[in-house]
Amino acid sequence: MTTAEAETKLKEYLSLSQENTKDKSTDIKPVKTLRIPEYEKKRDTYTEAGFSAIQRGELALLLLAGGMGTRLGFDGPKGTFPIEEDKSIFECLFDNLRRDIGDVEIPFFVMTSDKNDEATRAFFKKKNYFGYDPELIYFFRQDMAPACDFDGHLLFEEKDVPATSPNGNGGFFTSLIKAGYGEVLKERGVKWLNVFGVDNVLARIADPAFLGSVITEHKSAAVKAVLKKDPSENVGVVCEKDGHPSIVEYFELDEKQASERDENGELLYCAGVTVNYLFDTSILLKTVEQKMPVHKVKKKIPYIDSDGNHIKPAEPNGYKFEILITDILQFFPDFLPVEVVREKEFAPVKNLHGADSVDTARALLHARRDADGD
Ligand code: UD1
Repeated sequence: MTTAEAETKLKEYLSLSQENTKDKSTDIKPVKTLRIPEYEKKRDTYTEAGFSAIQRGELALLLLAGGMGTRLGFDGPKGTFPIEEDKSIFECLFDNLRRDIGDVEIPFFVMTSDKNDEATRAFFKKKNYFGYDPELIYFFRQDMAPACDFDGHLLFEEKDVPATSPNGNGGFFTSLIKAGYGEVLKERGVKWLNVFGVDNVLARIADPAFLGSVITEHKSAAVKAVLKKDPSENVGVVCEKDGHPSIVEYFELDEKQASERDENGELLYCAGVTVNYLFDTSILLKTVEQKMPVHKVKKKIPYIDSDGNHIKPAEPNGYKFEILITDILQFFPDFLPVEVVREKEFAPVKNLHGADSVDTARALLHARRDADGD
């Protein structure tokens, strides 16, 4: 990104942005989630509807792999992290896909960023595309966002090279269209896009029952959710805001609301989203014209000072800007939050150790293997 481009983008982002605060959630309402017992009752109907749609070519996959994975502290694309001795996170995701749909192959989009595109493509190639048809794997880069100091001045990582970072996961569809892949969706008659994160190694993708549920219930979007373990768990929760489906992120939900309970003692905002969505592509197409909110986040941003010294700040020294997938739901008329069994479908890899870590994800993968009798 040139300095002039960065200046223009920074101006736009500053005008659209708000700092993340906990009072954003004041006007939200709880919404109904499709709970496991109800879902199980209809599982066969859903599965049949979903499989038929997949066979008609109506589903495509989109992997969000543009993030920096900073919390993991791993020097490479997060998907290449060896979650098991001989298995990367990417490979786990392809395994999961085959568990659900066997050898059926569907278009598989991979969103990368300027920071990890080459390494991601090279890894897929080296691993022989995990046995998938390379013709059906489409890489594209997401947009980058400039960073600035607290006074709104651009920061530079090198002389005349603005400091940039991926602009969040919410611009996935605009970037897909910019890359020219709208044609692929059109030619193939793709009606549903299953968008998922790189870091949940138990994610069930192209899950026929999930797809069948959104079709059968006549909704335009769906998300897989788990019941929150406790009020402080770092997951976004589903809700309604200004009459629209919405997700409030964990850093936006105020503490009182996070711990509010209903008459049965259940958290009022109990459905924590996993990054596994289904979107009706005809509505996604309309969102390209919309301005998404921009989140301004205080971060430690390495920069070069006026004497040419490279500085690695110990404290936040400026803002990065992000557009979030959770904000896209406001453009959908309705949506279906679907509860899934946490132990079977949610093993996020955010940190090396502790909560949501490589350790916890490995343990869950082992438990699945034991349950399978492998
Ligand atoms: C995310 C979700 C949160 C959810 C939680 C569950 C978002 C905005 N938040 O939080 O609702 O409850 O996971 O674990 O989705 N990514 C990109 N480009 C970017 C930034 C991120 O592709 O610029 C990708 C990441 O590679 C990852 C996914 O988006 O696959 C999630 O991003 P991350 O920043 O890890 O979100 P969390 O804060 O963990």
